[in-house]
Amino acid sequence: MSAQQPQRIPQDFIDTLLDRTDIVDVVDSRVKLKRSGRNYTACCPFHKEKTPSFSVAPDKQFYYCFGCGAGGNAIGFLMELEHLSFPEAVEELARKAGMDVPKQEQNLSPAAIAAQQAKAQARNQAYDLLEQANLYYQKQLRQHPQRKQAVSYLQERGLSGQIAQRFGIGFAPSGWQNLLDELGTSDTTQSALINSGMAIKKPDSQRVYDFFRERIIFPIRNSKGKVIAFGGRVLGDAKPKYLNSPESAIFHKEKELYGLYEARQQQRDLKRLLVVEGYMDVVALAQHNIHYAVATLGTATSHHHLERIYKMVSEVIFCFDGDAAGIKAAVRAMHTSVPFMSDGRQARFLLLPQGEDPDTMVRKEGAEALTNLIANATPFSEFLFQQFSQDLDIHNLEHRAKLATDMMPVIQSMPKGLMRSMMISKLEDYTGLNQDTLAQLTAVNDPPAITAKADTALSDHHEQATINTDFVDTPTGDAPYAPPIPPDYVQADNYWQAKESWPTQPTTHHQQGYQKNHHIQQRQKASVQNPAQGAIRLILRHPTLAQNYAQIPDHLRQLRMADAGVLVRLLEICQQIQTQLQRAPKAAELQSECTTLEAWPMMRELAAMESLTVASDHTSQLQEAIDKLHHHYFDQRFDDLSQILRNSSGEEQINTAKKQLKSLLSEKETLQKMQKSR
Ligand code: UTP
Ligand code: MN
Repeated sequence: MSAQQPQRIPQDFIDTLLDRTDIVDVVDSRVKLKRSGRNYTACCPFHKEKTPSFSVAPDKQFYYCFGCGAGGNAIGFLMELEHLSFPEAVEELARKAGMDVPKQEQNLSPAAIAAQQAKAQARNQAYDLLEQANLYYQKQLRQHPQRKQAVSYLQERGLSGQIAQRFGIGFAPSGWQNLLDELGTSDTTQSALINSGMAIKKPDSQRVYDFFRERIIFPIRNSKGKVIAFGGRVLGDAKPKYLNSPESAIFHKEKELYGLYEARQQQRDLKRLLVVEGYMDVVALAQHNIHYAVATLGTATSHHHLERIYKMVSEVIFCFDGDAAGIKAAVRAMHTSVPFMSDGRQARFLLLPQGEDPDTMVRKEGAEALTNLIANATPFSEFLFQQFSQDLDIHNLEHRAKLATDMMPVIQSMPKGLMRSMMISKLEDYTGLNQDTLAQLTAVNDPPAITAKADTALSDHHEQATINTDFVDTPTGDAPYAPPIPPDYVQADNYWQAKESWPTQPTTHHQQGYQKNHHIQQRQKASVQNPAQGAIRLILRHPTLAQNYAQIPDHLRQLRMADAGVLVRLLEICQQIQTQLQRAPKAAELQSECTTLEAWPMMRELAAMESLTVASDHTSQLQEAIDKLHHHYFDQRFDDLSQILRNSSGEEQINTAKKQLKSLLSEKETLQKMQKSR
């Protein structure tokens, strides 16, 4: 500590701050470091030199220059480099670590100083003990007479010795006092072991015994590699399956991520992180060369986690089991992610098939298949729409209003930016409500009482004045209480429910199987699945409609949607026949011309499908479908640009992408205006 600032900032705070700061990050963001063995080197920023003699040791959290002798911790480095005072340097690091510097205590009593020092000492002792315990457990995995049992358990789970070593996996043999005997039974050591959760005192008998017995041990390391806690798994089926160290002064479950240190050891400038549920998931993925997985420690993903994660990477993929608990965890993570979703950041969601977790999945299907699934994981915006529209019927006015009321406050909690604007505009598309109305939904404290009843057919007649009913057909007299039915492609345009029929990227065989089973898919009806199919159906039945599209719209060609490709092909065939016969084809002629197409079975089914609509204005129905596809094309471009924003580091590239995003948004608005005026 600096001599000029005796105890102005509590030592305890400084210790915690240094615990949460990695000197490698502090230096590297100012002086580019290169890895060299266990340390990092660079040309010294404090004296002139051509060959690097400046070195940073992550394990000691120190820098040192062999050339000029400069050296110190992260605070000292900032003071030297940026000519800051001690409190200024602390302030700067605290800001980065998301901590508030406590009020400076001017006249600390000797007792208070002593208390602080005792606290600091206890903390260091705890680190020490945990490290000793860690070494002990690892040694048992190599040497204990019962080691075979543990080693073969790990081998059966597909782990190599090398991976076990990288994660410092150990073994706590059976017996009540192994660790106690090893580390010492003096009162002070015992109470230190109890405080850091490695030993327990039985209240009645006062007997002290080891917390972890007959378990595989996973050390939990903080960002600098210091062991701060353990997780222990039984070798068989006993309960509880996992034990975790209790919370302590240095271990806060909701803040730590298992595997983060190890991931960063593999690759310091990580691009993405995969958040999984279990220790074994992290380790098994690493075994298959997927090094960027981290696990929460039996808790939900917290905002603390996300704060840390998004400081390091711009993309997070939440990968959970496909069971009810996994879905719940994903939805929770989605809600926690909302305030973090600024432009250039992405969260994706990957729900594995029932009964699988990342560990079983990577072992069964291999790393490549899983990497594919990760690459195709559902983006935040899509997942959000999926979740909110799940029990709603999008062609029911009341449900659409509910969707808007539920979703709007969530979207408004996103940081301001283009992504947020895109989502508002998407919500506008799906609900038929305009931006002003949507904005009012969050402004009003008491939202309109809209309840999602199972059968709301009747109440549909009591439309709210704010709902844009332009595209809704009016019910006819012979169906007195039928709800107003929108065109069938609008009805089926739950595009988030129809992913499998038009993947934007090639899906693996496995993924398709998964999506078929997935709960989100279950509401699919035997009907038109997307606007492209709606358009195909209309043209197959009324080929004259194609005459308006002699010039095939560019967005149809650009769309990475299988059915859009079919639509383009169909329009081309109409053109060809038109040229040959000098008139529009008849439905039968067109359909017989299409029988050789690969998509014919689907087309035939579409053509045979009875119209659900009462109105017969096919021209505007087709135009609406093609307009919808235009919006899908905007979404596609938005996703592409977001991808560029996430993956590029060059400022120029980022600026270009941002400009393109802006013009994309105004293009979208122009289109919306045009569509309204049609
Ligand atoms: P799971 O029950 O999904 O187990 O717990 P798992 O990770 O698939 O474990 P294996 O593959 O059978 O070894 C997920 C996480 O929840 C916490 C642990 O952090 C675990 O990794 N957990 C689970 C506990 O803390 N205690 C338990 O008893 C079970
Ligand atoms: Mn598992």
